[in-house]
Amino acid sequence: MKLPLVELHLHIEGTLEPELLFELAERNAVTLPWASLAELRAQYDFTDLQSFLDLYYRALDVLRERVDFTDLTCAYLARARTAGVRHAEIFFDPQAHTSRGVPLRTALAGVRDALERSVDEWGISTQLIVTFLRDRPADEALQILREILAGEIPIDGIGLDSAEVDYPPELFTEVFDLARAHGLRLVAHAGEEGPPDYVWQALDLLGVERVDHGIRSLEDEALLDRLVRDRIPLTVCPFSNVRLRVIDTLADHPIVRMIDRGLLVCINSDDPAYFGGYIDDNLAALDAEFGLGPDRLALLARNGIEASFLTPAAKAALADEVETWLATQREAAGPATAIRSS
Ligand code: HPA
Ligand code: ZN
Repeated sequence: MKLPLVELHLHIEGTLEPELLFELAERNAVTLPWASLAELRAQYDFTDLQSFLDLYYRALDVLRERVDFTDLTCAYLARARTAGVRHAEIFFDPQAHTSRGVPLRTALAGVRDALERSVDEWGISTQLIVTFLRDRPADEALQILREILAGEIPIDGIGLDSAEVDYPPELFTEVFDLARAHGLRLVAHAGEEGPPDYVWQALDLLGVERVDHGIRSLEDEALLDRLVRDRIPLTVCPFSNVRLRVIDTLADHPIVRMIDRGLLVCINSDDPAYFGGYIDDNLAALDAEFGLGPDRLALLARNGIEASFLTPAAKAALADEVETWLATQREAAGPATAIRSS
């Protein structure tokens, strides 16, 4: 039995593996600036968020047709299944496609085609969260959201991503107000590279229910008190933090400190094709680095379930499965361990 997981911080465009990228380039006759897979992979040496985003936006130029978005999403879901993912709330960046001439409806329909097969084919329930690029004008985000609402295109929530510093959440208050008025769920990247003040703004001005990354909240005790008190989830992405140099090495990752502080943290892969692994790889690496053990792995899985936008009944069913997994782990470890850890 695999630990049942929920993934809440996953950019579908960030699951574009080099092999699929080259296949789509050939299919769509797109000329790539990289001569080989090796040459492309050699670019995956990022100095900060912006250096990653430059490559991320460039690479997704191979996504042109509806079926390309379906193939991309299916590839992620198939891999997520092997990781034990049972529910995924997936980010999608409309402006990364509309800005290069791919119609919103084409891209979204392609993603949806895959999501509609997800429960039957991979046993993964899904939700779709449209993320707006904060380094583009808020008016553009507002226009796209209005188009989605007017067209009755089914989405579950909105988020905020891309270059963070100098693009504070307060710029997007109107966008989030409109989304809230239409019953959409609200999340935002904050406190990845940006200061704790951006996390405060995301909470108090945008009214987000969940903070993506939020790792720099650790610099502000009053903010930590607030996050703990209100059980605001932080979707933490350890491989991303290392690759984008938010922290130096995995050994420096504050995940244990965050757990011990009582924060509602869960583990996610962010852009797994670029950062060295999927959600299971992130968890395995943390377990190896910090000796988390079954109890803290189960806690992280439970946190993800609580942080999700699943119904209470679906949350309870998945949480039961986590307890079953934990019991099998304790059994496998033998009676001495079972007594010690109980
Ligand atoms: N941060 C901000 N924007 C992003 C990311 C990220 O980690 N991945 C894709 N867009
Ligand atoms: Zn992200």
